[in-house]
Amino acid sequence: MSLKQNLSDLESQVKDLSPGEGLALLADLFPGKVVFSTSLGQEDQVITQMIASQNLPIQIFSLDTGRLFPETLELLSRTESKYKTRIKVYYPERDSVENWVAKHGINGFYESVENRKSCCFVRKVEPLKRALAGNAVWVTGLRAEQSANRSEMKRIEWDESNQIIKYNPLLDWTFDEMIAYIAEHRIPYNPLHDQGFVSIGCAPCTRAILPGEDARAGRWWWEDSKKECGLHSR
Ligand code: ADX
Ligand code: SF4
Repeated sequence: MSLKQNLSDLESQVKDLSPGEGLALLADLFPGKVVFSTSLGQEDQVITQMIASQNLPIQIFSLDTGRLFPETLELLSRTESKYKTRIKVYYPERDSVENWVAKHGINGFYESVENRKSCCFVRKVEPLKRALAGNAVWVTGLRAEQSANRSEMKRIEWDESNQIIKYNPLLDWTFDEMIAYIAEHRIPYNPLHDQGFVSIGCAPCTRAILPGEDARAGRWWWEDSKKECGLHSR
């Protein structure tokens, strides 16, 4: 049976499971072929704790775009120490970054949505493809509440561009549920969250938001776009 054909079966199997149970089931069904992408955001820190506390054989990886906040990289290191695990870090292809910067300038992503998307492609989407290649399940920290686009997502989905099953275990969690879980389990988080940053990506493309603003308003704030970088294309 192809991976895609497994989908509806899997959907019914994880339907009534907690995120931790769902992760354990998938790790069992696809040994050595489940990977989890962490941006070190709050959702991702919750999932890392669930994987580490159950000692699940799920490879945790992160995409270091080269433009992340120092606080994010520091949190990566702190998370590795706390959970005694190694987070595999993927980097963009050197030549692609050099060519992009030579053509558009170091901060050329501010100039057009097209430039911004091509920067995201070079720094995130291409490395993601390498990280997912050969695997069966990709775990993410997406939550439906984060945006209109994400509210239409499912817990188990087929990712056509990477030909992989996608599992979004926290899809139905509210922001408050997530914060309560972080406090209860003393999960390390990015200190920028305490300064008004909610969704955190690359430093030049992320800013703090005001109370009441949309959770993703601080991402690519100068754009009037769907505010997606291409990792989660649908
Ligand atoms: S993004 O598409 O706007 O960048 P967002 O920051 O909301 O995504 O994160 C959603 C999910 O995408 C995260 O839970 C994580 O699984 C994945 N993700 C985003 N950025 C990264 C990254 N730099 N490294 C690894 N995974 C990432
Ligand atoms: Fe480039 Fe900004 Fe996308 Fe990061 S978020 S990859 S700096 S355009």
